[in-house]
Amino acid sequence: MSQIRLDKFISERTEYSRREIKELARKGGIKLNGAAVKAPDVKIDPENDTVEVCGKTVQAERFRYLLLNKPQGYVCSTDEKDGKTVMELVPAELRTKGMFPAGRLDKDSLGALLITDDGELAHRILAPGRHVSKIYIVKLDRPFQSNYIDLFSKGIDLKTGERCLPAKVKPLENSEKHVFVELCEGKYHQIKRMFAAVGNHVEVLMRISVGGLILPEKLAIGECMELLHKDVENLFLPLDFDAFCTEFSANFSAKLINKVL
Ligand code: URA
Repeated sequence: MSQIRLDKFISERTEYSRREIKELARKGGIKLNGAAVKAPDVKIDPENDTVEVCGKTVQAERFRYLLLNKPQGYVCSTDEKDGKTVMELVPAELRTKGMFPAGRLDKDSLGALLITDDGELAHRILAPGRHVSKIYIVKLDRPFQSNYIDLFSKGIDLKTGERCLPAKVKPLENSEKHVFVELCEGKYHQIKRMFAAVGNHVEVLMRISVGGLILPEKLAIGECMELLHKDVENLFLPLDFDAFCTEFSANFSAKLINKVL
């Protein structure tokens, strides 16, 4: 591995900002091969040097986390045999060997998709027991019915006989056919099948959050951004569904509805 600056090495692998690293180094909290270093801009060899921050060793291995605003028409796969894949949308400079989409959105779905080379993190997000919830905005074919709220909260029985975990649904203000849905699991075509079970049909579906990580308004459809350490931590923070829907309704949803929904 080539040499890199100590502060860059640490900031890419921990929650510390460059400013905090400088301060920690000044106080003797950063060690290089066992000795305190005061100069955070010193060059290190990540393969052979040992770096400690506040007594904890910083691992040289670095995973990358990207957030893609997935467009329709791309499959969540790494295998070109499946057709046009989301991996084609990752710019070469952000791509690493072993990257894959952590989660599935249908070919005709849009929105927030995490792409990473960190298999353990992907497992933590996708495992049904972990309850990392995801919020979607959905355009229905027929108007929303208020009994959906109760039906979704009890757990929908799909036509195949499978039972879904309790989920939340809420209509968008001033719209009969646009709804927010929160799920904490990811069965195949789940939202489409949930609405089919209550006699409706999904026309368009966009994921707007994964855990506490919200799709930024500035991330255009088809674009990718690299996530910072603190954004990745956000994945595991809970989001208040009702508060989120209110805020999202007010700000962003009108623009989205005009564009894609
Ligand atoms: N539910 C669906 O039906 N499709 C998706 O892409 C995601 C959730």
